[in-house]
Amino acid sequence: MTNKKRNIFVTTALPYANGAFHIGHIMEYIQADIWVRHERMCGNTVHFVGADDAHGAPIMIAAQKKGITPQQFVAEIAAGRKQYLDGFHITFDHWHCTDSPENTELSQTIYLRLKEAGLIYTKDIEQFYDTAKGMFLADRFIKGTCPKCGAPDQYGDSCEKCGSVYSPTDLIDPKSALSGTTPVLKTSTHYFFKLSDPRAVEFLHEWTQGKGADGANRVQAEVLAKDQEWLSGGNLADWDISRDAPYFGIEIPDAPGKYFYVWLDAPIGYLASFKAYCAKIGLDFEAELTREDTEQIHFIGKDIIYFHTLFWPAMLHFAGKPFRVPDHVNVHGFMTVNGQKMSKSRGTGISPLEYLKLGMNAEWLRYYLAAKLNSRVEDVDFTKNDFQARVNSDLIGKYVNIASRAAGFIFKRFEGKVADAAMNDPILAELRQAAPEIKAAYETREYARAMRRIMELADVINEFVDREKPWELAKDAERAADLQRVASIALEGFRLLTLYLKPVLPATAEKVEAFLNCGELTWNSVENVLSSSRPISKYEHLMGRVDREKQLDKLLPEISAQQTEEAKPVKAAKPAKKQAPAADPNAPGGEPIAEVCTIEDFIKTDLRVARIVKCEEVEGSDKLLRLELDVGEGRLRQVFSGIKAWYKPEDLVDRLVVMIANLAPRKMRFGVSEGMVLAASSALKKDEGVYLVEPFEGAEPGMRLH
Ligand code: 2FM
Ligand code: ZN
Repeated sequence: MTNKKRNIFVTTALPYANGAFHIGHIMEYIQADIWVRHERMCGNTVHFVGADDAHGAPIMIAAQKKGITPQQFVAEIAAGRKQYLDGFHITFDHWHCTDSPENTELSQTIYLRLKEAGLIYTKDIEQFYDTAKGMFLADRFIKGTCPKCGAPDQYGDSCEKCGSVYSPTDLIDPKSALSGTTPVLKTSTHYFFKLSDPRAVEFLHEWTQGKGADGANRVQAEVLAKDQEWLSGGNLADWDISRDAPYFGIEIPDAPGKYFYVWLDAPIGYLASFKAYCAKIGLDFEAELTREDTEQIHFIGKDIIYFHTLFWPAMLHFAGKPFRVPDHVNVHGFMTVNGQKMSKSRGTGISPLEYLKLGMNAEWLRYYLAAKLNSRVEDVDFTKNDFQARVNSDLIGKYVNIASRAAGFIFKRFEGKVADAAMNDPILAELRQAAPEIKAAYETREYARAMRRIMELADVINEFVDREKPWELAKDAERAADLQRVASIALEGFRLLTLYLKPVLPATAEKVEAFLNCGELTWNSVENVLSSSRPISKYEHLMGRVDREKQLDKLLPEISAQQTEEAKPVKAAKPAKKQAPAADPNAPGGEPIAEVCTIEDFIKTDLRVARIVKCEEVEGSDKLLRLELDVGEGRLRQVFSGIKAWYKPEDLVDRLVVMIANLAPRKMRFGVSEGMVLAASSALKKDEGVYLVEPFEGAEPGMRLH
């Protein structure tokens, strides 16, 4: 990448306009917003837009139930968006709606271009029709008895009881979920996008394996693997892009009573929003899109990869100019709570609005997510202990603490003036040298790596302050110069840390810029030191600690009992002395099966997939290897394992293992062991081998074993 300024058009997936934002939306917006803020700090131009995904049968039906038009329904939802976006400091330049003139025009244009390219055809298909409601039924609006297991009241596409997937026509005794009547089969002409066309397949092979304008791969390795699975074997299915009236959507040109399926016009909504934004700020939309240097980047969740990395680039490519194919589709995993999918009914959901109402600082969540997000398609797990530790120990204990320790001395004792000579201290040089590494981590969405590095640097400053003890220097009038030097170094260190954290903590950074009187912090201001010519102002409290009872337990009340267990302070565990199993030649593996345990007993053991990032011998131990494990937490765990006799360290790096992740940490002679990796051995033939347990391919660090 050259130093030329970039011109980037960024979007996040458009949320359905049938409900409020959930925490998954907020996580995606925060991930994108951090990236956008980082790019702006590099001096690049970014157009960051979003919109409501308004169309489709569910919204039409929800509006009918409320006795309002779909447009009114969508407008009500849209009116509620601002409090979330402002609340979490998410700075879209523009928020639009797919039910808009821009989207109608763009969708129809793109469709006509695809038709001209010979990629649209029609076919008659048979579908269930609700005669009482006068409409064709989407799979989700048909219920009946599962043809496989006989479970009643199952949806038309899959059975929640046995998990089988089938067609609505396979259901026993199908009923319309809208009217309760028995639907009839009716033929209708549908429009298809010919994704199986050899031109489309060839293009998709090339696009998915290509690079964006920044020289990085268009899609992540995991996404490419999925795409190749779908593309290989030549069985890419054509895509049914039409729905029959009544439907809330955009009419297909020259096809009365036919509408675009919501997923056709939804991604075009990215362009519609950008177009409306261009009009608002006086940019020429087509010129912006066709600019050589424009980059188009989408952030999405892992559930909509197919739409975004197959349909969407193909639509754009075959529609031709001014449309351009995406440079990148950046995919993230889901957010889980205690390793579980969130569920309102189990009380494990996190309500973003409730979070704000409880007075929880939006930047805590931004930091917490940043500390856990990387460039891979991994789920991000939320636990109360982890959140509390990252906020109170890292953010407040390590970062904010520096300012509160140093600023008072400079303000009160030195009229707000730093010691200019102190700005050349080697400690500060160490902090400045880390800038390219942190910048690169943001660029590649390796936020967890950036946060780790920043906290290491905060440790450097805190250790310096602990060593120099400014509070003691302050007692001795003759050591005023030393005091000024130490406090100045700490404050300049704080300025640099704030710069590094600015994409994540924009509101705090703004307050810091004002109180340090240091101007706007950008990636260009790493070398702009604090100066005695610009005295600092009085330090005002920047950020408080999270309160476990008043905030976290209220945010996730249903699981507070379980979490209370988890919250108990970590004692140096004294595990019950392990009984050597009596070898029994008749028992499997020579070891009798243990006492019966209940499922509740079992689930207390949190087994996780972990990747061995580093592995080495332990000096002074002939049994142990020291492992550094990535359990998907945004940090590495150290685990000592007695497998030295069986494995060479270099053979283990990058292998996946299973570990007990919630085992109380054990203090050993060589350091603390934060868990245990699972290995198999036989009580009869202990000397013949210990075998690490490795998950099947596809498992990812952090996944829980059930
Ligand atoms: O899955 C969803 O929530 C869709 N509304 C996402 C659409 S993304 C884009 F295509 F608009
Ligand atoms: Zn079933």
